[in-house]
Amino acid sequence: MMLRTLPARTLLFLGLCLTGRRGLASAPELREQPKSIAVVGAGIGGAVTAYFLRQEFGTGVKIDLFEPGTVGGRLATEEIGGAEYEIGGSIIHPLNLHMKHFLDRLGLSQRRDVPSKMAIFDGEQLSFQESDWFIVNFLRMLWRYGFNFLRMQMWVEGILDKFMRIYQYQQFGYSFSSVDRLLHAMGGDGFLLLANQTLEEAMLGAGFSQSFLNEIVVPVTRVNYGQSVRINGFVGAVSLAGAESGLWAVDGGNKMVCSGLLYHSKAQLIPARVTAISTKQRPMRTGGMGLSMYEVNYVGDSGSAHSLYDIVIVAAPLHQGLSQIAFQGFNPPIPSHFPGRYHQVVVTLVRGLLNTSFLGVTDPPSEFLVSDILTMEHKDSVISSLSSVDPVQVPSGYSRPPASVPKVWKIFSPRPLTEAQLSGMFLSRDVVREKRWLAYPLYDRPLRRTPPFVLHERLYYLGAVEWAASAMEMSAISARNVALLAHHRWHGQAGKIDQEDLHIRLRSEL
Ligand SMILES: Cc1cc2nc3c(=O)[nH]c(=O)nc-3n(C[C@H](O)[C@H](O)[C@H](O)COP(=O)(O)OP(=O)(O)OC[C@H]3O[C@@H](n4cnc5c(N)ncnc54)[C@H](O)[C@@H]3O)c2cc1C
Ligand SMILES: *[C@@H]1O[C@H](CO)[C@@H](O)[C@H](O)[C@H]1NC(C)=O
Ligand SMILES: *[C@@H]1O[C@H](CO)[C@@H](O)[C@H](O)[C@H]1NC(C)=O
Repeated sequence: MMLRTLPARTLLFLGLCLTGRRGLASAPELREQPKSIAVVGAGIGGAVTAYFLRQEFGTGVKIDLFEPGTVGGRLATEEIGGAEYEIGGSIIHPLNLHMKHFLDRLGLSQRRDVPSKMAIFDGEQLSFQESDWFIVNFLRMLWRYGFNFLRMQMWVEGILDKFMRIYQYQQFGYSFSSVDRLLHAMGGDGFLLLANQTLEEAMLGAGFSQSFLNEIVVPVTRVNYGQSVRINGFVGAVSLAGAESGLWAVDGGNKMVCSGLLYHSKAQLIPARVTAISTKQRPMRTGGMGLSMYEVNYVGDSGSAHSLYDIVIVAAPLHQGLSQIAFQGFNPPIPSHFPGRYHQVVVTLVRGLLNTSFLGVTDPPSEFLVSDILTMEHKDSVISSLSSVDPVQVPSGYSRPPASVPKVWKIFSPRPLTEAQLSGMFLSRDVVREKRWLAYPLYDRPLRRTPPFVLHERLYYLGAVEWAASAMEMSAISARNVALLAHHRWHGQAGKIDQEDLHIRLRSEL
C-alpha cells in the first residue's frame, strides 16, 4: 500500500484534514454524546434544527420532533382546481445559501421561473408600472426619484455583504449566544444601530427622500411584512432585499424542504402538542443523583404522555396565540410568552375575474399582465397587496394568463375581506380560500431587547431571531446557530461561542 510508505506526520496531517477544520480547533471531546434531544415544532426552523443536530451529534442520538399540526408550519399550500398554491412563506432570495444547500442535499429543484411584472397602487390608480424594458424602468425611476433608486440598491448591497459573513462563521462552527451578538458579528455596531432605528430613520439618515420612502419603500414593507417603514431598519433591509431580482421558490412547494429535512435527519416525528417542559434529576442505579434531564409533556391523539431529554430546542414562537408551553420549576422563571405581539396577515386566494377598473386601469383586461400590485399607505386601503399567482408546480410551456381570463389571485390584508369588498375587486369568482396567520412580529418599534437563544443550561429557543427579521432563511440561520450552540455547550467548547472580530480572524486563518 502507498500509505504505509508515508511518514507518520503526513498521516497525522491527512487524518486531521479528513476530520475537517473543526477537528483542528476543538478541544478533545471528554463528554459522551447526549442520548436524546427534543425539538418542539416542525416548521422550517424545527426541521433545519433536526438536520444540523444530526450533523453535529452524529447517528447515535435520538431526535424527537413534536408537531401537532402539519409539517411546514408557516410554509403551507392550498389546493384550488387540482393545483397547489403557496399560502404562507413563498419567496426566497438568491443569496439565501442555507435554503439553496437544502435543495441540493434533498434533490429538490427551483420552480420554473415565470417572469413577473410589478406595479404600485396609490389608492386610486397605478402610480408606477414596470415595463418589459429595463432601460425604461431605469429612466422612469431616475426621472422621478433622482439617484434614490440606485442608492437604495447600493445600500441594500452593503448590508447584504455583511450579512453573508454568517455563512462563513457557521461553516467554521462558530455560534452566538444572543441575537445581538449574532448581529454584531455580522455587521458590527452598524447592524445594532440599524436594528435600533426604524427603517424610516435609517433611510432618511442615509439621505433618501421622504417621497421615495412613501412611494417605493412603504409598498415593499407592506407586501413583505404588512407594516410601514416604522419597522426596524434590519428587517427593513431584509424586506428591500426581498424586492430584488432572482427570487425563487421550491418546485412542488416550499414546505417540501421541511419534510425532506426531517426524513434526512432520521428524526422521529411525534404528532403531539408540547404542553410543559420541566427539569428532572435522573436517579442513578447507585442511588445518587445524575445529570438533570428535561421532562417534556405532550398531548396527542392517543392522550398525554411525557419523555426525558438531555437537550430541548423550542422551534415554535413563544408568543400569545402561537404556542402555549408552561416552563415549570425554572429559576429564574421562563415565561410562556415573551413581550411583543405577532401581526395578523390574512391571505385570501380568489379564483376569478379581476375588476381591473378598481385599480384605475383603463387598458383592456386582455392587455393587463401585471403580476404583483403593491400598495401605498392610503386612508381607504383595505389590501396590502394583490398578486396573480402561479401553481407550485409550473407546467412546461406555461405563461401567466392576462386579467381577462379567470385565474388565481392572492391578496394580503390586515383584516378579513368582506363579501362587498371582494365584489368590488372581482367581476366574478368561484373559489375563495382564506387563511388568517399570526404571520410575523409586529415590528412597531426599534429592536431593543430580544428573547434569548439560551433559556436554560441545555434548553434553547430559535424564535428569538424573528425579532431581528422573520424569513425562512432567518429561521434556518437561527437553527444552525442553536444546533452549534447546543453542541459546543454540551462539550464545553467555549472557544466556538461569541468570538469577536471573526471576519478579520477568519480572513487570516484561510
Ligand atoms: C403569509 C406569510 C408570508 C410570508 N412570506 C415569506 C416569504 O415570502 N419569504 C420568507 O422567507 N418568509 C416569509 N414568511 C415568513 C416565514 O414563513 C417564516 O419566517 C418561517 O416559515 C418561520 O418558520 P419557523 O419554523 O421558525 O416557525 P413556524 O413555521 O411557525 O413553525 C413553528 C411550528 O411549531 C408548532 N408548534 C406551536 N406550538 C407547539 C407546541 N406547543 N408543541 C409542538 N409544536 C408546536 C406550530 O404548529 C408550527 O408548525 C411569510 C410568512 C407568512 C405567514
Ligand atoms: C438604542 O437606542 C436607544 C435610544 O435611542 C439608546 O438608549 C440605546 O443605547 C441604543 N442601543 C444600541 C445598542 O445602540
Ligand atoms: C369595478 O370597479 C369599479 C371601480 O371601483 C366600480 O365602479 C364598478 O362598479 C366595478 N364593476 C363591477 C361590475 O362591480
